[in-house]
Amino acid sequence: MNILLMSGSFHSKSKSIAVLKMIQEYFPSDNFHFPKLDDLPFYSEDLAVNKPDSILRLLDQVGECEGIIVCSPEYNHSVPAVLKNAIDWVSRPAFNSVLKDKPVTIITQANSPVGGARA
Ligand SMILES: Cc1cc2nc3c(=O)[nH]c(=O)nc-3n(C[C@H](O)[C@H](O)[C@H](O)COP(=O)(O)O)c2cc1C
Repeated sequence: MNILLMSGSFHSKSKSIAVLKMIQEYFPSDNFHFPKLDDLPFYSEDLAVNKPDSILRLLDQVGECEGIIVCSPEYNHSVPAVLKNAIDWVSRPAFNSVLKDKPVTIITQANSPVGGARA
């Protein structure tokens, strides 16, 4: 399968990336892509009418994949801005975006007793 792995954090010791890489190792015959979300510009209506290459690439990757696995830390009882920004980009146009009908698995992790559930 052609699967997109989306992490909510990108530092060198990210546990979210470690979880996604472990999934990748378990399914060696599948085709995984790891989009870099931390260098995307923030969503803006102005950029949306003339999308930069990084956004076009992400839209293509989401449109072409058969499913998405997200792994994210919890940041202040919410989702890290880098992941939310990527979701904002691929969620438009509303009700007809590349995300429509796309199977998505969401994994969260954090140090709290609820393990990132609020993200
Ligand atoms: C800005 C920031 C906010 C955080 N907020 C929360 C939080 O609300 N709840 C929680 O349990 N952990 C919180 N954490 C801890 C991270 O969720 C936790 O360290 C996580 O394992 C980091 O994942 P990563 O290694 O993939 O970056 C926060 C960390 C940071 C840097």
